[in-house]
Amino acid sequence: MVTSSPPRPRILVADDQPDVLAALRLLLKTEGYEIETANSPAVILSLLEAKNFDLALIDLNYTRDTTSGQEGLDLLSRLQAVDGTFPVVVMTAWGSLELVVDAMRRGARDFIQKPWDNARLLAIVRTQIELSQALRKGQRLEAENRLLRAEGRPTLIAQSPAMKPVLDLIARVGPSDANVLVTGEHGTGKEVVAKTLHAISARASKPMVVVNTGGFAEGVFESELFGHVKGAFTDARADRVGRFELADGGTLFLDEIANVPPNLQAKLLRVLETGEFERVGSSKPCRADVRIISATNADLPAEVKAGRFREDLLFRLNTVEIHLPPLRQRREDILPLATHFLRQHAQRYRNRLSGFDPAATQALLEHPWPGNVRELDHAVERAVLLAQDEVLRSGDLSLRGGREATPRLEDLSLEEVECYLVKKALARFQGNVSQAAKALGLSRSALYRRLERYGL
Ligand SMILES: Nc1ncnc2c1ncn2[C@@H]1O[C@H](COP(=O)(O)OP(=O)(O)OP(=O)(O)O)[C@@H](O)[C@H]1O
Ligand SMILES: [Mg+2]
Repeated sequence: MVTSSPPRPRILVADDQPDVLAALRLLLKTEGYEIETANSPAVILSLLEAKNFDLALIDLNYTRDTTSGQEGLDLLSRLQAVDGTFPVVVMTAWGSLELVVDAMRRGARDFIQKPWDNARLLAIVRTQIELSQALRKGQRLEAENRLLRAEGRPTLIAQSPAMKPVLDLIARVGPSDANVLVTGEHGTGKEVVAKTLHAISARASKPMVVVNTGGFAEGVFESELFGHVKGAFTDARADRVGRFELADGGTLFLDEIANVPPNLQAKLLRVLETGEFERVGSSKPCRADVRIISATNADLPAEVKAGRFREDLLFRLNTVEIHLPPLRQRREDILPLATHFLRQHAQRYRNRLSGFDPAATQALLEHPWPGNVRELDHAVERAVLLAQDEVLRSGDLSLRGGREATPRLEDLSLEEVECYLVKKALARFQGNVSQAAKALGLSRSALYRRLERYGL
């Protein structure tokens, strides 16, 4: 019989002084702990991403500035936002009581003052590891219960290997208060994921308020988000509560976040940093306890590089990022999704359809699905309406030629749109460049340059 002892608790020790690290490593190792060391916040973050730890013992000061403790405090806030159950014990120099108070407020479980007393340090480490194990077990049970109860939880079908890490991440960060950025192409299910995160969080009984940030005129946006007071502008005949306040205690879902104009990015950043905002026309600060989930199909780091999106705002929003792969990279999900949509629509249209015939199944699997899950949903709905028999046939799906079908404008880049329009104009005038150029409002040479660029 093979027996194995329980795994040794793993501790991350961080300090910028090598002798401190060496002494702690020796002390904790002798007590049977597994130790990893780090000498900067960046190393700490990358270690935490790579491995699971049972506790972190971190110094508050690193080389960038060695007295204020700000680097350590920022790190602590970030760690707590990602996983509020992860125990962090901070180390400070004697006499920096204010720093200790600030650290405890940001979620540190305990503190150790340097030079430390070995017995006290070991007692704190042992107690905190035990406490957090109990806490995590309790929270996990609670989250699982909520998932099972499925109250208000949207259907999220994900059986493919590509979705496994996504599901794991949802289960892990769902219950926390971490801000989450959901990314992925059009129709990949970003809103479904946002709703799921909310539904399994402790905020589930409070509202999830949705804001389509691309949907407002610039002037309206601010008052939609933060509210306004009577008389703030001509149409403001009464006080109005903004979406931030409506979401108090719950979740605010900022959809299409890349569309927020620059001046509002600055305002949003301030709210996220301080938790405070003012209604338009008022100077009285309001507070709201809100978890932010945002979504985009844009490449935000590229938007940052291009100067269109604030990097500091991105950093606040993407404490955790969940990326949804396009449907073509998770083909195992196509049939379960199609079956789900078939049932849904058949019920809605009071139709006795029972499934797909083999050719329809094949067509579903072979289609590239540029519009992802939403396109699949619509294709099945259309087929349900057209179907004559009790099974859906490939003809009902009318997917053939899907590749050449008119592309959806919003799925294309500017260059792709241009290339598409150039091709269409050429086809319309049977390849006559002068006429095509005229129709496009271009000179002949400008059109030739484009033909060359797009290899036409
Ligand atoms: N994994 C899934 N399981 C079940 N239904 C899904 C899933 N993913 C998406 N859907 C359904 O597909 C449709 C599109 O999903 P959703 O609106 O969440 O996509 P999105 O990524 O927000 O799209 P967009 O970028 O266009 O806003 C919805 O009807 C949604 O219910
Ligand atoms: Mg959406």
